[in-house]
Amino acid sequence: MSVQIVLGAQWGDDGKGKIVDTISENSDIVVRFNGGGNAGHTIVVDGKKEAIHICPSGIIREGVVNIVGPGVVFDLAVGSSELELAKKYGSTVLLDHSTPVVIPMHRALDAGREVAAGKIAIGTTKRGIGPAYGDFWLRRGVRLNDLTNKRLVQEALTQSGYFDELCAIAKHLGVDNCKVDLSDLNIEIDPMSLDQTVDWCMKYADSIVPNLGDTRGYVHNAIQLGSNVLFEGAQGILLDTMHGFRPYTTSSCCTAAGVSSTFGVFKFDRVIGVAKAYSTRVGSGPFPTELNNGVGERLRTQGKEFGTTTGRPRRCGWIDMHALSYACRMGGITDLIVTKLDVLSGFKNLQMCDGYANISAEKTLTGMSVASAVPQYLKVPGWSDDITKTKLFEDLPIESRAYLNEIELHTGIPVDAIGIGPERDQIIWKNR
Ligand code: IMP
Repeated sequence: MSVQIVLGAQWGDDGKGKIVDTISENSDIVVRFNGGGNAGHTIVVDGKKEAIHICPSGIIREGVVNIVGPGVVFDLAVGSSELELAKKYGSTVLLDHSTPVVIPMHRALDAGREVAAGKIAIGTTKRGIGPAYGDFWLRRGVRLNDLTNKRLVQEALTQSGYFDELCAIAKHLGVDNCKVDLSDLNIEIDPMSLDQTVDWCMKYADSIVPNLGDTRGYVHNAIQLGSNVLFEGAQGILLDTMHGFRPYTTSSCCTAAGVSSTFGVFKFDRVIGVAKAYSTRVGSGPFPTELNNGVGERLRTQGKEFGTTTGRPRRCGWIDMHALSYACRMGGITDLIVTKLDVLSGFKNLQMCDGYANISAEKTLTGMSVASAVPQYLKVPGWSDDITKTKLFEDLPIESRAYLNEIELHTGIPVDAIGIGPERDQIIWKNR
């Protein structure tokens, strides 16, 4: 029996999808506990790319039970198409009956707020995440269980003037003039129309309702019975609402605490942090090691650094071990997996940020402090060999092993495995 968590240890897009996919081979249950359609986990199966946004990455493993917990915000259109994908791969999906639903109005508000913010816009994915979580914490909005009866959806939307209030805010923001991206919903809908919103929700009832259940009870029993359970985090610890660099964060808990608060599970065998061998981020916000030069461009091209959900080019930079150490501390990380080490092949020299000149190691990093951080770099030699077919850790170039050793030394967390390419088998486990 094992209970494990996989978390992004940087700003998301760390290559978690592939790691979850690999570990889920030995898992009975894979659980998504945070985020929503903002996430994009790419997995390559026999050369075919699958991008998964809401369901756990285990949906493409035959026989795996996949769970979407009550702390996820659920986009019905995206979610239902992933239920189809699960069927295709022979896996099952259980959705928590109390999971909040992202309605088209949430997307409209997300887009409207970004336009209103102008120069200080967060650069959200415009998938309605912030507004949906906002309503969840205000204890209102549609839940998946409401889809069992149209009347429940109507009631959830109209209680205490909820939908009218959202419309008033949308008008105030001038949402009519904002571009609301609903293209991936494959449906024309006026987000300000109550009737259309109700019909839109009910359109998905037939596919969603048969998958509803008590996920917390299910996971609790499975752990008692000795199942192998894997919790899959979305985004990354540096985007966590509490510990990320506010306001440039997402709206959910991206640490191990996110599992505890939504599933009541507090004991874990391993909390695995997934970190890229360099750094990337999408959207705005402080990024001390960002490289706005040819090196950054080279990392973007070699690493194919374009968002899975929005297609946006990712900002690229050297690895920031200072921010990574902070993320490990706040996230509860016990083990690290370093992905995309192959992307660094061919650089004569590499740089690793091992501190900020103006912020001490123990300090809590905040948006304010990190915005003016002055990174200090350790310069290390690179390697030229192609490592994408390497099978054993000992066969990696000595410079790349020294690079990984530096990460271990700085964070105090062991590196268990290394990603060397997008395919399922392009991973080296250190002690297996
Ligand atoms: P939101 O989660 O769409 O509200 O976006 C808030 C911030 O988190 C923005 O900077 C997004 O680019 C970032 N973000 C959200 N989801 C992801 C993800 O899965 N990977 C990387 N960045 C993300």
